[in-house]
Amino acid sequence: MEIKVIEAPPDKRKVKPADESKLGFGKIFSDHFFTMPYHTGRGWHDPLIEPYRSLQLDPTAMCLHYAQEIFEGMKAYRGQGGALFLFRPMENIRRMNVSAERLCMPRVDEELFFEALKRLIIIEKEWIPHGSGTSLYIRPTMIATEAALGVHPSNEYLFFIIMGPVGAYYPEGFGPTKIFVTEEYCRAVPGGTGNCKAGGNYAASLFAGEIAKGIGYTQVLWLDAVERKYVEEVGTSNMFFVIGEELITAPLTGTILPGVTRDSVIQLAKSWGVRVAERRLSMDEVMAAIADGTLREAFASGTAAIVSPVGQIRYREKEYVIADGKTGNLTERLYNEILQIQYGQKEDPFGWRIKIAD
Ligand SMILES: Cc1ncc(COP(=O)(O)O)c(C=O)c1O
Repeated sequence: MEIKVIEAPPDKRKVKPADESKLGFGKIFSDHFFTMPYHTGRGWHDPLIEPYRSLQLDPTAMCLHYAQEIFEGMKAYRGQGGALFLFRPMENIRRMNVSAERLCMPRVDEELFFEALKRLIIIEKEWIPHGSGTSLYIRPTMIATEAALGVHPSNEYLFFIIMGPVGAYYPEGFGPTKIFVTEEYCRAVPGGTGNCKAGGNYAASLFAGEIAKGIGYTQVLWLDAVERKYVEEVGTSNMFFVIGEELITAPLTGTILPGVTRDSVIQLAKSWGVRVAERRLSMDEVMAAIADGTLREAFASGTAAIVSPVGQIRYREKEYVIADGKTGNLTERLYNEILQIQYGQKEDPFGWRIKIAD
């Protein structure tokens, strides 16, 4: 399918932010977006890059009622000399299709998805900020658009990709976060949609997140829904602990999101000779490791921050300090390595970096 392009007229283009230190996250979007509708019997059709606009939906559009909505989150990076890079984009594309299948939504052809992504980024390249650690955040999204209130998989969808500049996550260096372990609420159940990037998962997570914020914590640490015993994820990131000589993260059993950063951390750490275990880790084991001094590092991983050190953890009314509240060596090494690969500052032995323009 040929992607058609309608360019925004020069006088309708937005003013690009002048101060890159004030970009923040998810507030500014570029001049164009990609859209492609789907109808049962016809499939995906009319892929289009067009001027950014509001969407028009019937009030009964099914995404508004039954949450048939999925999305992805990825970034484009500007390297030295103006080269533009993506980091493992096919992983996000494949994960979006896993989410689509689970929510009875149509898959998008991987090559067409990638082509749309590349073309849109190249059209919007002036929107990619220059500052260290800044990037262009990309949000591919799929919504059910059929106007109908009966509960069934929609017969109509819209796939779209929007993008916008985002600031450096750590403009002033690492800031270890404080996390709150909830035993009362859970994010995902076995057999549910925890391994999908479905909007409904995030809606369900807000309540516990607000409780945590209300008492001064940055994120919620989610435990397994059945026994409320084993570590799963933290906020919207995967969770890692270094206990003794082992780097431990939860296994991919369907209740956590298979993070692209999680996989990159695992592969890098293994390549450095670190012992990595994808296994269940109970809060009892975490508490015992804090008590005997073997819990050396804790960090969250995700596209937004790469890795985010955890300095304090609250569990059953008590607060514990991890590694004196400082960033661990492995955490810092992983951050630097992934960042430098993403920005083209370092060799990429894994072939993760995809150059899309010189
Ligand atoms: C629930 C959840 N877990 C983990 C992650 C980390 O995934 P990734 O490394 O692919 O950004 C995210 C962010 O996308 C997320 O929303």
